[in-house]
Amino acid sequence: MLLSALALLLASSPVFVDAFPAYATRYAGPRNDDTRKPIQRRTAVPYSPQFPYTGATLNGAAGTGVGGVQVPAPGDYAHYYEDPLPGAQRGPCPGLNALANHGFLSRDGITTYTEMVAALQNVYNADFSVAVALTMLGFVLDGDPVSETMSIGGSVPLVTGKPGEFTGEYGGVSMHGTFELDVSLTRNDYYLNGDSHSFNGTLFGMMVETAKSTSSAENPLFDFNAMALYRSQQYERARVENPWLYFPQLALHNYGAATFLFNAFPSSAKNYTPDLETISSFFGAVELPNGSWGHVGERTPPNWQNRVAPLNLTEVSTGITELYAAYPKPYGANVDGVWVPLNSTSLSALRKRQSASDPNGILCGAYDEIIEHAEAAPQPLAMLQFVVEKANPVFGPVGCELFTMP
Ligand code: HEM
Repeated sequence: MLLSALALLLASSPVFVDAFPAYATRYAGPRNDDTRKPIQRRTAVPYSPQFPYTGATLNGAAGTGVGGVQVPAPGDYAHYYEDPLPGAQRGPCPGLNALANHGFLSRDGITTYTEMVAALQNVYNADFSVAVALTMLGFVLDGDPVSETMSIGGSVPLVTGKPGEFTGEYGGVSMHGTFELDVSLTRNDYYLNGDSHSFNGTLFGMMVETAKSTSSAENPLFDFNAMALYRSQQYERARVENPWLYFPQLALHNYGAATFLFNAFPSSAKNYTPDLETISSFFGAVELPNGSWGHVGERTPPNWQNRVAPLNLTEVSTGITELYAAYPKPYGANVDGVWVPLNSTSLSALRKRQSASDPNGILCGAYDEIIEHAEAAPQPLAMLQFVVEKANPVFGPVGCELFTMP
C-alpha cells in the first residue's frame, strides 16, 4: 500500500523529480518521520482551449482579464467539485480550498506557483498583479521557492521540505503566525485549541447574525458594513478571550481577506450580491436543523460567474484601509491576559505607500512587503531569487524600485 502510494507520487511528478534530484532522494527516503497518511498527488489538469476562463494557462503569465465567466464552465468536468480525498491538504483560506476542490489547484492541496497564479485569475478574475502579489506573499511566508510548491493546508515535509530546514518556510498556509494570524472571521485563534485553520460553525453563525443586523434578517448581506462591524466584534472578543492574542500591524492582511466576501465571491450573474447562498457555498457552511452551522467542502455556488472586471490591488488595499478605518483598533498583544500596545512596525511605511492614491504606490508597497518577508526566510537569497524571477517582471514595468540579486 505504502509502496503503491509512493509509486503514484513519483509517477505523477516526473518533471519535478528530474528537475530537482535532491527532492527525488527525499521522496525515496523513509516515511516514518511523517505521521500523516500518504497523499495521492493529483495536480491541476492543464486548461483546455475549449474552456479558457479568463485565458490564464499554467505558464505563469497574464490572462486576458476578461471575466463574467461561469465557473466551472458547463461541461468542464475536470473542474467540477469533488470532495477532497483523505490526506488532502485544506486550510484556513476558503478561497484556496474552493480552488482545490474544483481542481484549479492540485486536488491534494499541494500546489505550485503557476497553478495558483492561473487559478486566481481564471476563477476570481484577479488582475495579474493581484494574482502574483497574493501568490508570492503565500510563498515567502509559507512555501518553498526551490520546488515552487506550497501546501494550502499543513506542512507536508516529504513534498515541500521540513520547517526550519533548507530554503523556505514550509509550514503551508495553515501555519500560524505567518500568513495565518489571530482574529479571523471563521477560524479560532491558535492559542484557544491549537487549530486556527478549521472552519468553526459558531463563528460563521456569529458572522451571519452580524450581517442580519446590518442588512436584514431575511436577506443578510456580507457587504462592507457587515464585514467592518464583524471584524470589530471579533477583535473585541479576542481581546477578552485570548490571553495570548497577537495583533500586529500585519493583521491588516486579515482585513484584506474580509474584503473578498464582497469583492471576490459575489457573482456577476447576481448583480454582485454578497448574499448568504453565495458566502455559505464558498465557506462550505451548511445550516443544520438545529440552526447551527456545519461544514462541507468549499465550492462555487450554482451558476456562479466571476467578476466582469478584474479585481485590482487598489480595490484590495482601499478595502483594507476603509474596513480598518471604520473601527480602528490598537495593535498589540495580550501577555498572559495583560494588554501590551505595540507601536507600528516597519510595515507602517509600506502601508502608507499602499494607501497612497497613486496606484503604483500600492503595487510597489505590495512588492516591498514581499521583499521584506523574503528577507526573513530561512535561506533569504533562495527566496529572493524566486521573487526576482517571478515578481520583478510584473512590478518593474510599473516603476517600482526593484530588488536585484547581489
Ligand atoms: C482571490 C483569492 C482569494 C480569496 C477569495 C481568499 C479568501 C479568503 C477569505 C474569505 C479568508 C477569511 C477566512 C476566515 O477568516 O474565516 C481568507 C483567509 C486566508 N487566506 Fe485567502 N483568499 C484568496 C487568496 C489567498 C492566497 C493566494 C493565499 C496564500 C497563498 C491566501 C491565504 C489565506 C490565509 C493564510 C488566510 C487566513 C488568514 C487568517 O484568518 O488568519 N489566500 N482568504
